[in-house]
Amino acid sequence: MKIVYTSNTGFTEQYARHLADTLGCEALELKEALSSLRKKSEIIYFGWINAGKVEGLKKALKNFNTVCICGVGIAPPSDEVVVSLRESNGLALPFFYLQGGFDFSRLKGSAKIKMRIARSLLKKSIEKKEKPADSEKFLLDVMENGGNFVDRNKIKSIADWYYSRMI
Ligand SMILES: Cc1cc2nc3c(=O)[nH]c(=O)nc-3n(C[C@H](O)[C@H](O)[C@H](O)COP(=O)(O)O)c2cc1C
Repeated sequence: MKIVYTSNTGFTEQYARHLADTLGCEALELKEALSSLRKKSEIIYFGWINAGKVEGLKKALKNFNTVCICGVGIAPPSDEVVVSLRESNGLALPFFYLQGGFDFSRLKGSAKIKMRIARSLLKKSIEKKEKPADSEKFLLDVMENGGNFVDRNKIKSIADWYYSRMI
């Protein structure tokens, strides 16, 4: 088993490495995996969430025997988030959602431009509302001040799933 990941600013990579440490296997970036792993190697795939899509997933599914998918986004975890990500990515495989982090200073190119626009739109929308939702206030705070929610303990459920396959 290998862990393969796509990370833009590092949070997804941290989770992928925590799981690799726990399972005692190697973690590789998708680009590296495409050139060094055999086609159809068994992998657990980690990708950051970009506008509801798990980044790099199509390539991972096409090239490897992906047995589990882990998506890392900024939304607080909930059943609703998992259902919506399953739908928007057409997922039938085991799927885990993890809350990563946000660091505006580490964004580049179009992602930085998109987030600058999204932040200012969200701010305006919140200012117009008498009682903005806590979820909106949370998101704006993270977009303005950053946040890191990566926690090694959060990969426990993925490790448990992995070991349960062996029984
Ligand atoms: C352009 C862009 C779009 C994003 N879209 C989503 C999203 O739809 N849902 C979500 O929960 N997080 C979204 N995020 C937040 C990232 O998924 C989050 O910051 C994640 O931890 C990034 O992981 P990374 O550090 O491995 O790149 C978005 C971030 C950017 C920059």
